[in-house]
This record gives sequence, C-alpha cells and structure tokens, in this order.
Amino acid sequence: MADQDKQVITEAVRSRYGSIALTVLEDKSGGCCQGSGCCEGTSLNTDRISTDLYEVDELEGIPLKSKLASLGCGNPTALAELHPGEVVLDLGSGGGIDVLLSARRVGSTGYVYGLDMTDAMLELARQNVAEAGVKNVEFLKGDIASIPLPDNSVDVIISNCVINLAADKQPVINEAFRVLKPGGRFAVSDIVIHGGLPAELVDNSELRRDLSSWAGCISGALSDSEYQTTLTNAGFGGISLEITRRYALEDLGSTLPDWAKSLGEELSQNIVSRFASTFVRASKPLAE
Ligand SMILES: C[S@@+](CC[C@H](N)C(=O)[O-])C[C@H]1O[C@@H](n2cnc3c(N)ncnc32)[C@H](O)[C@@H]1O
Repeated sequence: MADQDKQVITEAVRSRYGSIALTVLEDKSGGCCQGSGCCEGTSLNTDRISTDLYEVDELEGIPLKSKLASLGCGNPTALAELHPGEVVLDLGSGGGIDVLLSARRVGSTGYVYGLDMTDAMLELARQNVAEAGVKNVEFLKGDIASIPLPDNSVDVIISNCVINLAADKQPVINEAFRVLKPGGRFAVSDIVIHGGLPAELVDNSELRRDLSSWAGCISGALSDSEYQTTLTNAGFGGISLEITRRYALEDLGSTLPDWAKSLGEELSQNIVSRFASTFVRASKPLAE
C-alpha cells in the first residue's frame, strides 16, 4: 500500500475515534454505545461487536464514560491472565476501560501503559483514570507502529480491536515484539477473517477500499494465516487464535455498505461469516 493511502486510512481512523471521544466527553451521548447506536457508521453493527464483552461485576467502580467509550471486540484483560507486579501495555487504549481493568489485576506493584494516537481519546482516558482514583497507570500519545517505550520493558501486551485498524500490520507487531521482555506475552482481541476472503475479493476489492468499513474494524482485518505469518516474521512463538464471537449478514445493521450491496446476498453472507472476534496469543521466546 502506498504511503499516501496509509495516511488517508490513519486520518480516517483518528477522525472517527476522535469524534466518538468528543461525544462522550461533551456528554451528548444520551446512553450511546449502550444500544442506541452512537457507533453507527461501522460496517458491522458496533452494538453487536462491542456489547456484553465484560462481566457486570468486573465493571463495578469503572467510570461511566469509560464504559460508554468501550469500542473493543473482546475482553483481553480477562483472557490474558495478568499477575500482580506485571507491566502491561494496551495498544490503542481508547477511553481506558482495559487499562483500568488491567490496573486492578496487576495491583499496586504492577504498572499499566495505555497508548493512543487520538488526543480526545487520551483526554477521556485521563479523566476516567482520575475519576477512578487509579495511580499505577499512564497514557502515552503515539502510534502503535512506533511505541514510545524501551526494548524489553513490558510483560504483557494487550489490545482490543485496534491492530485491524492499522494500515500496515507488520511494523505494529514488530514493535510489540521489541518492547516485550523475553518470555513476554502478546494477548490481543481483534477481528480476524478466518479462511481469508474469497480469491476475487482479496486485492483491490471495494471492501478493502471502504474507509468507513476500515475505521469500523472490518476492512483492515487480517486473515488467520496472515496474522500467524506476521507474528512469526516478528519472532513470536506459541501462536494461537481462538474465536470468541462470530458474525452474520444480519449484524450489518439497517444499511448495507456499498461493497456488500454489489455482491449479492449469498456471497455477502459467506464473507461476513468469515469475520470473527478472535483472541490472539503469542509469546516472545526466552533469551538463550
Ligand atoms: C476500536 S477503538 C478501541 C478502543 C479500546 N481499545 C476499547 O476497547 O474500547 C480504537 C482505538 O485505537 C486508537 N488507534 C487506532 N489506530 C491507532 C494507531 N495506529 N496508533 C495509536 N492508536 C490507534 C483509536 O484512537 C481508538 O482510541
């Protein structure tokens, strides 16, 4: 992909999540992201992707605005088996929900970094952390393809529906590998296309060029084999992908995006059924 196209994608993603954060910050939400669709505009209905990811009791004490801005597709903190004293980095931390949940799990001897490129999301996350009174966390501004942390400094990388938004995935995975300590874990929720796209759609398809679908976590998703290859190329081992939620055409919501309209129902159904929220695990080998 040309650098200019990557920039266009990054700006579309920043603009979309910036405006969601501003809506929550300005408290114009009226309960959005709890079922009334402030997240509309995604290809798959975000309510279906982002609701019911967390147990009710684990959300106790988490600020409302953090819950309203929860835009993930899984619950990486629950699946990552975090331990007291660990250092965690959340790639694309958004309103901070997974940072706050991780901070509880690693306790006062642990530390959690949230990294995000969108100013309004960082402001929202910092407000939420102040409201929760949590001390062992810090939000950093930056791109997940250029992580502002030293080599070998993090025990666990988590992320929730963000890597699929990156215009170029390999630099992101390479950076994750670099900052992890030897033996460190990559424990990420993401949208993955299981079995890949049908051959006629892989290159230059409308789906891949639909910026709204990209910013909605769909068009930029890797196939399962691409994910494995990208992790292997970076040096990771112990790779596994576990489906946590599947989707169907009905989840597209009331308006079909253009790429789906032109394909007919059978092919669209076939494509959408390949998308799944997936928990991706890998580990950085111990130094020899
Ligand atoms: C789908 S939201 C998920 C937010 C959060 N992980 C959650 O579960 O609620 C995507 C977030 O990732 C951030 N983001 C997307 N691409 C990024 C990048 N290349 N570098 C840093 N942050 C990025 C966006 O600003 C947004 O806050």
